[in-house]
Amino acid sequence: MKSDPNPRESLRPALVESEPSESTGNLGDVIPLRSGLTPIGPTVIAVTSGKGGVGKTNISANLAIALGQRGARVLAIDADLGLANMDIIMGLAPTYTTADVVSGEVPIEDVIIPGAPNVWLLPGASGQHDLANLSDTGRRNLFTAVDGLDDRFDAIVVDTGAGIGSNAIGFAAAAKDIILVVTPEPTSVADAYGMLKVLCTRCAVRRVHVLANMVAGPADGEQVFRRLVALADRFLNIGLDYLGAIPRDGAISRSVMRGEPVLTAYPRSPASLAILDAADALGRADHRDDREGALRLFWRRLLRQKGA
Ligand SMILES: Nc1ncnc2c1ncn2[C@@H]1O[C@H](COP(=O)(O)OP(=O)(O)O)[C@@H](O)[C@H]1O
Ligand SMILES: [Mg+2]
Repeated sequence: MKSDPNPRESLRPALVESEPSESTGNLGDVIPLRSGLTPIGPTVIAVTSGKGGVGKTNISANLAIALGQRGARVLAIDADLGLANMDIIMGLAPTYTTADVVSGEVPIEDVIIPGAPNVWLLPGASGQHDLANLSDTGRRNLFTAVDGLDDRFDAIVVDTGAGIGSNAIGFAAAAKDIILVVTPEPTSVADAYGMLKVLCTRCAVRRVHVLANMVAGPADGEQVFRRLVALADRFLNIGLDYLGAIPRDGAISRSVMRGEPVLTAYPRSPASLAILDAADALGRADHRDDREGALRLFWRRLLRQKGA
């Protein structure tokens, strides 16, 4: 991984630490304009995995909060259409979900809710329709709604489903940055490789960030990464960046029980510190000349790949 001067210095300094507004009304009241740290529009980061239960949702929610703490305005999108639970991890109780945006029944400003300083959530709905296979009307409704968000956010963090059979692939392939979460279990590594293979051969993805979770120590994480690199180098044309490792830490489940993200419930816990490090590593690994991160482009690519 590159470690030269941070091309997205933008995400580092804690610039504006504004509390999300509780007011309703027009979108301008609810979500201030983005900080302008990213001149080309929001960067889209998809968090995915080969197998479920590896920590994607906890990582997505806390990564969004970490970027928000760095001064970026962040939209967290719960796109796990099977098990949407980002709201629970963030300790929120949403009234509406993306399903209401797709049906056109609720304006997006009423669906998005503030979740942490600089962070908003577009809640998902378990069992909602496949976003890659929307009707023309649903597609238009979603497009129109998200088009208006382009100038509101610096970063979009998407919690996708797991597995090569799900539309996680579609979400991941449409994003600029893909974070593949993998644990040291052999099944997780095997499924992560399967995910990489599909991303590479079917979606022409050429670079993926790997984040090890639930490791016993730093060496454990590095070993998981090396195992994936060995497989990818032999069989796939894909570059892997190591974003680091998050230790197995009881603070995560304790925070979920408390209904709060670990970063705010236990900010000094090993897991929280590792998530902050991963957010910084992501900023360092980013390439300024890679302009494919705009939100509009993300949705366009996503909705184009019917049945992907
Ligand atoms: N670093 C960690 N240490 C301990 N438990 C963890 C860690 N990361 C996740 N967990 C636990 O693993 C389970 C699955 O996490 P979750 O974020 O829901 O995964 P996914 O979204 O991939 O299904 C949860 O019970 C969560 O508390
Ligand atoms: Mg999940």
